[in-house]
Amino acid sequence: MNTSVSQNQRVLSGMRPTGLLHLGHYHGVLKNWIELQHSYECFFFVADWHALTTHYENPSIIAKSSVDLVIDWLAAGVNPGSSTIFIQSRVPEHAELFTLLSMITPLGWLERVPSYKDQQDKLKDRDLSTFGFLGYPLLQSSDILMYKAGHVPVGEDQVAHVELTREVARRFNHLYGKEIDFEEKAHVAIKKMGKKNAKIYKNLLKRYQEQGDGEALSVGHALIDSQQNISLGDKERLVGYLEGGGRIILPEPQSLLTASPKMPGLDGQKMSKSYGNTIALRESPEQIEKKVKTMPTDPARIRRTDAGDPDKCPVWQLHQVYSSDDLKTEVEEGCKTAGIGCVDCKRHIIDSILLELKPIQQRAKDYLDDISTVEYHINEGCEAARDVARDTMEEVRKAMGITLR
Ligand code: TRP
Ligand code: SF4
Repeated sequence: MNTSVSQNQRVLSGMRPTGLLHLGHYHGVLKNWIELQHSYECFFFVADWHALTTHYENPSIIAKSSVDLVIDWLAAGVNPGSSTIFIQSRVPEHAELFTLLSMITPLGWLERVPSYKDQQDKLKDRDLSTFGFLGYPLLQSSDILMYKAGHVPVGEDQVAHVELTREVARRFNHLYGKEIDFEEKAHVAIKKMGKKNAKIYKNLLKRYQEQGDGEALSVGHALIDSQQNISLGDKERLVGYLEGGGRIILPEPQSLLTASPKMPGLDGQKMSKSYGNTIALRESPEQIEKKVKTMPTDPARIRRTDAGDPDKCPVWQLHQVYSSDDLKTEVEEGCKTAGIGCVDCKRHIIDSILLELKPIQQRAKDYLDDISTVEYHINEGCEAARDVARDTMEEVRKAMGITLR
């Protein structure tokens, strides 16, 4: 059930600051973020507390990586004029929401998150039997719910975290969404829609609640969404009343799965720091050239005159990312007939990567030469994020009845 109101146009996503970004991040995540900026109100943040859950023994790289991360985002095209860029630890409200949500989150929900066991198995060299590591998906829930984000662009490994977030939000709304005079307030809100719409709303309410008519529910959502002169709080009451629950304080987010295929690394496996097969966005052209030149090719193609099979070659996978259909045909035929050599074949890839990275590297250099501009964007973003976070916390405290004011 979609319980988000007009915040569903808001996107939130985060990245851990654990080193320089590479082409896998660019193709898999950043290009998507940059695209989303055109259609959504975006919040992108540096998840430095999240990085601590796995790097608590060596936290010194986190602060430096945080600024580097923002530089990479800016260089790649994340626009601080349209997106809010901030650092998690600079918005301490995240910790407060995390604490409050932890009170209502059953341990089993966290133990069941697949990444809990997976990561412990994968990162055997670290002791991850900590409270922080178990609780980190809930910290992620706090990040998302704080901004009432409707959409969360994530990779497949993170979908379970968004699912947990939905469960936690549902539980929160169920427990605390019952204002004392909820029904009365809902009726006031219905009146505010005007006679005609109020009548339609009541009719839909009846159809949904008495006959379980799902279409009435979606028409109702659309009707509420289209109301221009009604406050967000009232819209939430109208949705809550329609669905037969209380007010929705924390709307349930949806995951926005990135459609882009996996970026192949230098060895043909998925590009990932842990495989040591990456090209960093800020890697020098010489270094990039060297890395591509030393990539493995079809092992059966030993001499220039041997025919090759592109399907057995990681360079061919990079052509899928970078080359036009014409060039791909040319390479495929050339490889199979020994018409082209691997050196020429790789040249195309080197040129494409360098061309792609040139403007990014130029912008990164400009930002590095002018760190105060980066800091300015971070400060502005943190302020803007905090404004939203303060409002949410006020609502959350009030709903839970723990405000002293
Ligand atoms: N956990 C995410 C990761 O490891 C980063 C992250 C933290 C995040 N909070 C988030 C992503 C909120 C999306 C939304 O990649
Ligand atoms: Fe790989 Fe290209 Fe060499 Fe064929 S020609 S083996 S695709 S590098």
